[in-house]
Amino acid sequence: MSGMPIVGGVGQAEWARDLAEDLLATALPRRWAHTQGVAQRAASLTPVLGEETDTLIAAAYLHDIGYAPNLVETGFHPLDGARYLRDVIKADDRLCRLVAHHSCAVNEALNRNLFEALTSEFDEERPELVEALTYCDMTTGPDGIHLDVTERLAEIHSRYGPEHLVSRSITTSTPCILAAVRSVEAALSARA
Ligand SMILES: [Fe+2]
Repeated sequence: MSGMPIVGGVGQAEWARDLAEDLLATALPRRWAHTQGVAQRAASLTPVLGEETDTLIAAAYLHDIGYAPNLVETGFHPLDGARYLRDVIKADDRLCRLVAHHSCAVNEALNRNLFEALTSEFDEERPELVEALTYCDMTTGPDGIHLDVTERLAEIHSRYGPEHLVSRSITTSTPCILAAVRSVEAALSARA
């Protein structure tokens, strides 16, 4: 596989792309545009992640499938998506964990009284991958366009409004999100 373009290679990424497209493209086209942007960001991390980039791209495609109307259960998309991957798709554990914990999801889980469920059902994946997925999600806007992390955070606040549980959770998660973005940027510049 080395030397091959990872996005075009046969691996989890392609499989995940097809699954996410089925779940999101028609039902939630804007979410699908965002998802594709996040996957592109993931592909750009090959210099940092090497062969693990395929796993990251797959997780990027799957991170928001919990919004798909026919798999919503709790309404907390990281948990709904991860449970669907685990129980219905029988996906790789690493993908389930990455989806469950993407973009510092524990803070929103606390606000939704789902912290126990999230953390007892899904362990954390190793920090480099968790941070990489958070970086990709938090530097991609809702239409899939690359945004600076501060623009992305502002966009979430304005989309949901100041009192919304998602906005409050994002405020709590901001240090975690900024730390993830800084860590990935540092790793990228160290390899540039
Ligand atoms: Fe998400």
